[in-house]
Amino acid sequence: MFSLTMFLSLALSVVTVSTSSLGDAQVAISPLNASYIDSRHDYWNARQSNYSPSCVVYPKSSQDVSVAIRAIRESGSRFAVKAGGHSPNNFFSSVDQGVLIDFKSMTAKSYDAATTLATYEPGSNWGQLYEFYQQYDRTVMGGRLSGVGTGLALGGGLSYLAPQYGMACDSFTELEVVLLNGTITTASTTSNPDLFFGLRGGGGNAFGVVTRYTVQSHPIGKFYAGTLIYVLDHAQKVLEATHDFIAYNIDPKANILVTYETLTTPDVLLNLDEVIVVFIVYDGADPGAAFSNFTQIPRLLDTSKPNKAYTEVADMPIPYTAELSRADNVFRIGAHQISGSDAYREVYDRYAAWADANKGLYVFVSLNFYPVARSMTDASRARGGNAMQMPDGPWFWVNYLLSTPPGLLLDLHDRVQASFRAMVEATPSAPGLPLFLNEAAVDQRPLASFPTYRRLQQIKREYDPDGFFANKTGGWTFD
Ligand SMILES: Cc1cc2nc3c(=O)[nH]c(=O)nc-3n(C[C@H](O)[C@H](O)[C@H](O)COP(=O)(O)OP(=O)(O)OC[C@H]3O[C@@H](n4cnc5c(N)ncnc54)[C@H](O)[C@@H]3O)c2cc1C
Ligand SMILES: *[C@@H]1O[C@H](CO)[C@@H](O)[C@H](O)[C@H]1NC(C)=O
Ligand SMILES: *[C@@H]1O[C@H](CO)[C@@H](O)[C@H](O)[C@H]1NC(C)=O
Ligand SMILES: *[C@@H]1O[C@H](CO)[C@@H](O)[C@H](O)[C@H]1NC(C)=O
Ligand SMILES: *[C@@H]1O[C@H](CO)[C@@H](O)[C@H](O)[C@H]1NC(C)=O
Repeated sequence: MFSLTMFLSLALSVVTVSTSSLGDAQVAISPLNASYIDSRHDYWNARQSNYSPSCVVYPKSSQDVSVAIRAIRESGSRFAVKAGGHSPNNFFSSVDQGVLIDFKSMTAKSYDAATTLATYEPGSNWGQLYEFYQQYDRTVMGGRLSGVGTGLALGGGLSYLAPQYGMACDSFTELEVVLLNGTITTASTTSNPDLFFGLRGGGGNAFGVVTRYTVQSHPIGKFYAGTLIYVLDHAQKVLEATHDFIAYNIDPKANILVTYETLTTPDVLLNLDEVIVVFIVYDGADPGAAFSNFTQIPRLLDTSKPNKAYTEVADMPIPYTAELSRADNVFRIGAHQISGSDAYREVYDRYAAWADANKGLYVFVSLNFYPVARSMTDASRARGGNAMQMPDGPWFWVNYLLSTPPGLLLDLHDRVQASFRAMVEATPSAPGLPLFLNEAAVDQRPLASFPTYRRLQQIKREYDPDGFFANKTGGWTFD
């Protein structure tokens, strides 16, 4: 157990050491402190806010992180590392009675026009990074939504630009990493190449703490983009258009995100409990016929137009979802083939049946289709590939989101989770396709679906030899 005196002395030793020689990390100890409250509440899955860290450390440099890691190791405390706080999994970036390292104060960013490399610290979200790099007509590979944090890149990182440039981690050129013994080092293809390999899609919180990302930036212009909203009557038509886009679209500048959303209210009238939202994004002024299979279907709303900045694309307004939806949220993931497979229909049918049968036990559920284009897997491979070693597209990931009422009795909560899980598992993922780690539930063990799993296990043994991270913080398991 982590006693009051222990955490105070730990907190104070961090302050003392860091103010004397190693920078000036701040430490919030009081649960009434405004920064502490912020750090505790700023999670997308509200359940993480039930936990109370013993203190929150705000490092300002990799030295501060190193000091904190060494102090935590010495104290035997539990801990967590937090960037954007969007992982829904318990204890991945939250901690009860332990030290929370919150990157909020590490937000430096820069761009080198001579090399076109971009460098950023982990504390910004993607909206802030896109905004910063836009002044150079460049961008970095991140997420589709502005509010998500940089931990996304360590888990692969899927953006609308992925069919052009691969996953976010494919654009890493060098990472500054604090190893689990406090050593500050760099990982690249030439320095600690194994570590670099593991950090390219093998997930955060496993091999070390990344304190600076150096990445290949990419040119950015204006987008044709928008939100299409359909009523439930068109569910099947949108599903077929989604199938056709995943299977046949070969324009790497075109991408979609298709989301079926269901509220728990009974569908007594006009099926208003369900809505279908399709985001269409084209990197350029004229998408041609790329989205015509969607625009042929009658829409309730269509905001698509040209001339949108990338920051606007990452901020597209959405009913119910995303940033508005801080709640008791979990993700599950599936990976499926598209050609010669009915998986897309099975996935939808099971989702819709579950949503109908479980009214009242959830607040909100949604089903989200993510195309994995051939151009995306090619782009990834051309940059050296990542821990997923993605087989040739096209295929797709499907994300399931379950949002449960706050304060649901534990027993009921567990039953809903189990039944949702059974619904997802009823359509097994295709053998040989990697699960999308960023949106997997912890019990889905996404790393075990990677062809590189054995190598990742070795890297884990090498960089976490005594099981410090494995024992003291949440994260993916390697056994
Ligand atoms: C609304 C929403 C939209 C999303 N959209 C996308 C999307 O478009 N594309 C996509 O790929 N994913 C997406 N995701 C999934 C997202 O990538 C993951 O939830 C990711 O973990 C979020 O990173 P974070 O920094 O916000 O979260 P955090 O919970 O802070 O971090 C995630 C994990 O990484 C670890 N970590 C963070 N930073 C570091 C570091 N510097 N060093 C070591 N470990 C670290 C944390 O300890 C934690 O285990 C989305 C999630 C949500 C909730
Ligand atoms: C909260 O803690 C932070 C970090 O130590 C400190 O900078 C800040 O002044 C504290 N706020 C208040 C109101 O005490
Ligand atoms: C639209 O759907 C048809 C099949 O109905 C398909 O042949 C075509 O390739 C699709 N177009 C795009 C751009 O996806
Ligand atoms: C720190 O950890 C790394 C990786 O496990 C190891 O190679 C290195 O020797 C360690 N350094 C010290 C000082 O123990
Ligand atoms: C982690 O747990 C294993 C198994 O219980 C134990 O052998 C090891 O010493 C632990 N390591 C640390 C750093 O606590």
